[in-house]
Amino acid sequence: MNDLANKHIVLGLSGGIACYKAAELCRALVKAGASVQVVMSEAAAQFITPVTMQALSNRSVYTSQWDAREPNNMAHINLSREADAILVAPASADFMAKLLHGRADDLLSLMCLARPIAQVPLMLAPAMNREMWQHPATQRNMAQLKADGAFVLDVGQGEQACGETGDGRMLEPEEILADLISHFQPKLLAGQHVLVTAGPTFEKIDPVRGITNLSSGKMGFAIARAAAEAGAQVTLVAGPVSLPTPRGVQRVNVQSALQMQAAVLQHVDAASVFVATAAVADWRVAEVAEHKIKKDGSGDLPVLQFTENPDILAGVAQSERAQSGGLFCVGFAAESHDLLHHAKAKLARKGVPLLVGNIGPATFGQDDNALLLVDAHGSQELPHAHKLVLARQLVAEIARRIRR
Ligand code: C5P
Repeated sequence: MNDLANKHIVLGLSGGIACYKAAELCRALVKAGASVQVVMSEAAAQFITPVTMQALSNRSVYTSQWDAREPNNMAHINLSREADAILVAPASADFMAKLLHGRADDLLSLMCLARPIAQVPLMLAPAMNREMWQHPATQRNMAQLKADGAFVLDVGQGEQACGETGDGRMLEPEEILADLISHFQPKLLAGQHVLVTAGPTFEKIDPVRGITNLSSGKMGFAIARAAAEAGAQVTLVAGPVSLPTPRGVQRVNVQSALQMQAAVLQHVDAASVFVATAAVADWRVAEVAEHKIKKDGSGDLPVLQFTENPDILAGVAQSERAQSGGLFCVGFAAESHDLLHHAKAKLARKGVPLLVGNIGPATFGQDDNALLLVDAHGSQELPHAHKLVLARQLVAEIARRIRR
């Protein structure tokens, strides 16, 4: 995934122990396709050397406003004009206080002040001790920086380098990367609340056994991420999978189809879009054994009785809000053959305005997929691509349809 292809990021480092994470962040930005120009404050250079940052960014690092390498001797102007975004990570308490007052006595602060405010976003990843973070001065400064147009990222929580525990750690490099990538995505679903189901369900046979399927949850998680990137509030009801929760997404973990249905019914009233990606088990064992079913040596085979699970999507699609257009429902169909035929049939059977077909055996567990969008007017292929790319395309399609 080259999510930052053609993006030029100026990565600013102010002084703090979290500078050690900036090295990893720089690498992650480069790996995502960005060109990265590092600018460091004098204090930052106490924590990590410009040599390290130069090697990782493949560009010489700027540390001084008196750097004579620039022909016009105006590094602060040149650097900020070339940037698609300035990302300061770590942003120390002192650096943010300085920015707030429009002070500009070193290259990093000077460059931030000189940036064309309407074109070049400024993102700050704060990093500091928990007392410094909670101090009214820091909180006041952050509120004002946001009002002045900066994007202030969250902080992490947990053990700090000083030995204390609390809020104020810098986010992990991959979290900052995800927030930056998200920043560049169009906010097509701003104001919407998207509910997504993902993954398989697990239907118990006894306390140690159960029935499940090969769904990895990757497609549904990608859709949740793409919806969040597009500015929606997202609730993700996830079957048993070990995928990390996408940034900014509220996750509800479930196991069985009945639990998934209960979670969906609990959250669907707040939603304006429902995307049912989960591979819900069609049947569950009628009576779950209280104790492990034992092999007793007699050769007798256990007999399992099944009962049908509720169709979560069809139920939601029949609700008054869905029928009146207040809730846009999207179904998925994982088929093994005759995709268009089965997808069309499922569109009608589920009563949804949009059904997305894919070939189950070809997609389960994979990072890539190909989708077939089917609605009342016809079908459209979204060719083979990374699931996140497809998810963003699907989100754009959903946004287009709910705006009509
Ligand atoms: O009928 P089938 O399982 O193929 O339908 C697939 C679509 O219906 C998916 O969107 C899936 O999430 C949803 N579904 C559901 N509840 C079920 C079965 C399927 O929500 N019990």
